[in-house]
Amino acid sequence: MLIKDSDDIKSSEITDEKNYWNRRNFIRGGVLAATTTATGLLYRGLNPPNREVKKLDPVELSAKQGYFTAEGEAANDFADITNYNNFYEFTTTKEGVARRAKNFVTRPWTVEVGGLVHKPKTFDLDEILKLAPLEDRVYRFRCVEAWSMVIPWMGFPLAELLKQVEPMSDARYVKFFTLYDPDRMPNQKTDVLTWPYIEGLRLDEAQHPLTLLATGLYGKMLLPQNGAPLRLVVPWKYGFKSIKSIVKILLVRDEPISAWTDAAPDEYGFYSNVNPKVSHPRWTQATERRIGEFGLRDTLMFNGYGDQVASLYSGMDLKANF
Ligand code: MTE
Repeated sequence: MLIKDSDDIKSSEITDEKNYWNRRNFIRGGVLAATTTATGLLYRGLNPPNREVKKLDPVELSAKQGYFTAEGEAANDFADITNYNNFYEFTTTKEGVARRAKNFVTRPWTVEVGGLVHKPKTFDLDEILKLAPLEDRVYRFRCVEAWSMVIPWMGFPLAELLKQVEPMSDARYVKFFTLYDPDRMPNQKTDVLTWPYIEGLRLDEAQHPLTLLATGLYGKMLLPQNGAPLRLVVPWKYGFKSIKSIVKILLVRDEPISAWTDAAPDEYGFYSNVNPKVSHPRWTQATERRIGEFGLRDTLMFNGYGDQVASLYSGMDLKANF
């Protein structure tokens, strides 16, 4: 966001006029907040949330399209989900990702799954799509920048893929890699992050039934901006754990260092569980702005999935393991 691409399409061309202006205000707030904080890391880090937004017209939610969370929250518009993105391989400008990634070709595509497994294998995308039935799952998605959406993913539990390769008993973590190809992902020619983008989960987190490999949303195959052809979704963790356009998955013994932890270890921890009680060093995580809504919502512990995932962390100090 802070490193604006001069030739990015005007957002008014891809979103409606009202949203465009609301978003410009939102963005301007972020940049202002950023410029008053003098830290070198800031220019590499995600934008702080804007707490100044007072007046936002609600975007028409997609209730009519029938996608709701179990708690009855309507999914965000397809237009929001596909035009307000973080995908630093293309640009750091959220509203520019869709255009920059438009011609990203995701066929053929293979995913290598190896490391500490009995049956390492490189899967063709079509094989992956046949591993398990594709389900629609409507999850809350909470970005570390304190905005959120509700997204109707299509995909299957990552556990199904891990089962295929038979993890060895000393595999403790799973390390994920995004494609590295600066000709196809032009922002990899900059050093805004260390490439390839890497993420990690503990093996039990990766095997948890809520953890998805998403291949689509709103019942359609993923568009490039959302991480086509295959991305991770970990609904109880901040959005940056949900790594896009995955080409390699390794089972490993040691805790992986993710791209964001590498960039700013004090700001982005390995666990990154949504936790309203643990502030980001530059902003609170107690509240969030649901894209398309007025005002702020209270952020829920584990993004509201505590009943299902809290037991993964019993006995752990979640402040120390942020
Ligand atoms: N994966 C890759 N490879 N590169 C990225 O820049 N950004 C992360 C995550 N996965 C990112 C990524 C961040 S910060 C967020 S909030 C989500 O993708 C955004 O997903 P979305 O654009 O589909 O909403």
